Amino acid sequence: MNILNSYKELSTTVADIVAKHIIKWPVTNIALPTGSTPIGMYEELVKKFDLEWTYVKTFNLDEYIMNPDHEQSYHSYMKNNFYGKIDIMPSQCNFPDRNTEAYEKKMRNMGGIDLCILGLGTNGHIAFNEPGSDFKSRTRVVDLTEQTIVDNSRFFDDVGDVPTQAITMGLGTIMDSKRIILMVSGDHKLNILNVAMNAAQTIDIPASVLQEHDNLEVYYCD
Ligand code: GLP
Repeated sequence: MNILNSYKELSTTVADIVAKHIIKWPVTNIALPTGSTPIGMYEELVKKFDLEWTYVKTFNLDEYIMNPDHEQSYHSYMKNNFYGKIDIMPSQCNFPDRNTEAYEKKMRNMGGIDLCILGLGTNGHIAFNEPGSDFKSRTRVVDLTEQTIVDNSRFFDDVGDVPTQAITMGLGTIMDSKRIILMVSGDHKLNILNVAMNAAQTIDIPASVLQEHDNLEVYYCD
């Protein structure tokens, strides 16, 4: 695990990894997260004006079951924090929808995910794979746990406004990525991060599946 001194350092470190990846492999497929943790990384990437996005395809990890035009949808999040600020066409940016098999097929036909950036939920979820998710699961519709609904209610006016369902890449889908970067910010997540990385693997801690990945890097700051 790489422990960084600040959120700024976490953001620049992961943004540099993404930038170097794109410079080395301009034709590439990248899986991208949402949440508060990656916002700084997106800000840093936006500043890298020379980056060539033309041949990059992005695949978002998840999306709520809600109107994509809603201000708290992950479509809106990505547009406001990233896609609206870089030179990338909507046709390059993919989001999962109810046609989950088509999403899997698209990733597969394009050669799979080369680089996957992940955040970590306080209950150990990655993307929206909640505790109990099968380690081999694929893209699918899921029910969100009470914990995740409460955690994410900070972005909504009322906890009752948080969608109760989402579409997420599965743990098996994520594990097929050739390289995975897990970025974690905040000491409130240190315990779950340690358990996920070092305790026995269990479906109760979805991120523990990552222990089996042979090209995983973890970046953490308090
Ligand atoms: C959401 C997202 C996850 C994200 C998690 C952590 O539930 N679906 O992909 O990793 O939140 O978010 P935050 O970075 O805001 O703590």
